[in-house]
Amino acid sequence: QQNVPASPPRGVGLDGLRAAAAGCRACELWEPATQTVFGEGPETARIVLVGEQPGDQEDRRGEPFVGPAGRLLDRALTEAGIERRDAYVTNAVKHFRFTPTPKRRIHQSPGAEHIRACRPWLEAEFEVLKPEVVVCLGATAAKALISPSFRITKERGKLMPWTPPGVAQVTLDDEPDEDAPAQTWMLATAHPSAVLRVPDEDRPKAYDALVADLRVVAGALA
Ligand code: URA
Repeated sequence: QQNVPASPPRGVGLDGLRAAAAGCRACELWEPATQTVFGEGPETARIVLVGEQPGDQEDRRGEPFVGPAGRLLDRALTEAGIERRDAYVTNAVKHFRFTPTPKRRIHQSPGAEHIRACRPWLEAEFEVLKPEVVVCLGATAAKALISPSFRITKERGKLMPWTPPGVAQVTLDDEPDEDAPAQTWMLATAHPSAVLRVPDEDRPKAYDALVADLRVVAGALA
């Protein structure tokens, strides 16, 4: 079957986008995956967290960040003073990419072509949400949304002014968008799965660094 480029409907809100994305055939990942895992959270969210792609449990349940990485993220958010239920959580790629083996499905990083194919959905999410702060969780999201040369290790934890793709720029002919924040901020931090992969003795430090970055986000929203 041919890929069909994603073309999110406009003016349908997050539920309408989610319904449309369920049938996405913009790349080949839909076929072996259980389902599209769209973003989740309130339309009023001021903060949007962007991960890489759903994992095994997310694929089965149809919700982002509900597996081990999600539990670590929830704990880190709470510690930083951010309620997960107030945030919108999504991924750069909305299908699980994996290599099947007899025992389990092994996560495979998405390719540039998958990130590109899925991007219209992320842009459509930004267009509806008009976030105040966007948090890239890990290198995939940061490279997709900031720059291919972005290095998490060097540049994490810094708030940067950023214009979400998909949020219409105000032109001279336009009425200013009343709902859009005057400025959107971006911050990149480690992926929760990367924290889980850190050897035991160093993991508390890696976790604390994630919480510290999320506190910067909480401070920007205060
Ligand atoms: N890792 C991600 O990047 N996203 C998820 O939803 C789960 C794990």
